[in-house]
Amino acid sequence: MNNELLAALQRLQSTPFHMPGHKRNTALLGGALPYALDITEIEDFDNLQHPAGLLQDIAGRAAALWGSDAAYCSVNGSTGAILAGIRALTCPGDTVLVARNCHMSVFHALELCRLRPVFLEPDPVPGWEGELHGAIAQSTLDKALQAHRNAALCVLTSPTYEGVVSRVHCPVPLLVDAAHGAHLPLPQADLVVMSLHKTLPALTQTALLHVCGPRVNRSLLEHNLRVFQTSSPSYVLLCSVAECIGLLEQHKIAWFSQWQARLDAFFAHAARWRRLRLLAPDDRSKLCVDAGNGAHAAAFLRARGIEPEYARGRCVLLLTSPCDTEAMMACLAEALDALDAQPAPPPAAPAAILPAAPCPVTPAFALLPPAACLGRVAAEYLWQYPPGIPLCIPGQVITQVIAGRDQIAVQTAVEEFLNF
Ligand SMILES: Cc1ncc(COP(=O)(O)O)c(C=O)c1O
Repeated sequence: MNNELLAALQRLQSTPFHMPGHKRNTALLGGALPYALDITEIEDFDNLQHPAGLLQDIAGRAAALWGSDAAYCSVNGSTGAILAGIRALTCPGDTVLVARNCHMSVFHALELCRLRPVFLEPDPVPGWEGELHGAIAQSTLDKALQAHRNAALCVLTSPTYEGVVSRVHCPVPLLVDAAHGAHLPLPQADLVVMSLHKTLPALTQTALLHVCGPRVNRSLLEHNLRVFQTSSPSYVLLCSVAECIGLLEQHKIAWFSQWQARLDAFFAHAARWRRLRLLAPDDRSKLCVDAGNGAHAAAFLRARGIEPEYARGRCVLLLTSPCDTEAMMACLAEALDALDAQPAPPPAAPAAILPAAPCPVTPAFALLPPAACLGRVAAEYLWQYPPGIPLCIPGQVITQVIAGRDQIAVQTAVEEFLNF
């Protein structure tokens, strides 16, 4: 076993007069939950807030595996790492260039850290306009940098939920939210955040924060990781980080090449479809299928025992990982073939793609106007989850956000908030 933390936990014999209150008493509580591995930071088990032993070793192995200068474990997902990273690289009032299709955690960081965002609009994806966000072009970033020479930081999401990768050269510090890209080579950035649980064999909430290069003040970053993480980290989750790293050290080459071969075969198979269209993004581990109506496609798949990641507008998204078996991929291909053979469903309302709207007030200082919301300044986020990209953020003028039923939901949400 290449997981010293797990081995140490399994050897643990001491009588626990410490937290947690379940006292690892599986005789009393049963073994359905991992009580036996769930300890707190006791002697010999290191301390996530100041790692110097087993946990430091795990972080060092993660840095070596991904090729960063240093790595930090997060048991608060990419969310905690994003909050810590943005706060470590900025001061209140700083101007920050932010891809408009960032995840809500980035917007929460802007709000908490009192930052002034300048939004970078993603390019459209040719042939998928109005459905998906494309990459942030180098020219978009260069233009924003020229107009805002005082920018302290740039934040991008790459890959996106659907697998679109942005590759930019950025002269100011860059944080890349690669929550969906832990299986990809490390992008060129000062900080890279990746969820282990999204694409790799790891438990939910596990993530890594990588530091590359000299522009990040490590002690400030470590301080902020302490701010945004619990002081009682779950050793079940930390064990899972260690296990994931051990598995990659041992099997990455074989598992990833098998995965790639299965995906290549799947993409070749999908070329036969008559009606369905498969997006071919840079990261092909994400299968984004234009089925004419995403909700209809998701219901069709669900009826065949397949649960997709999400349905939005015309598309349904299916996420793969190295843990998918050949049988699982065959089952998916068969179900999508059957869907392809169906007559076209009623077309879906357009996906809730970002409206271009001015943002005259910074998120942290947004004001609440009373009464109707259209044309007013929003005081609250309007999310669709997934993907968790805010349609509207505090401080932004509320335009005709999305059509049809969704619009009513959006307006209702805003009005409820305004009446509060
Ligand atoms: C692009 C992106 N960044 C960050 C996050 C947050 O990740 P986590 O759930 O690991 O906190 C998500 C979650 O879906 C995401 O889609």
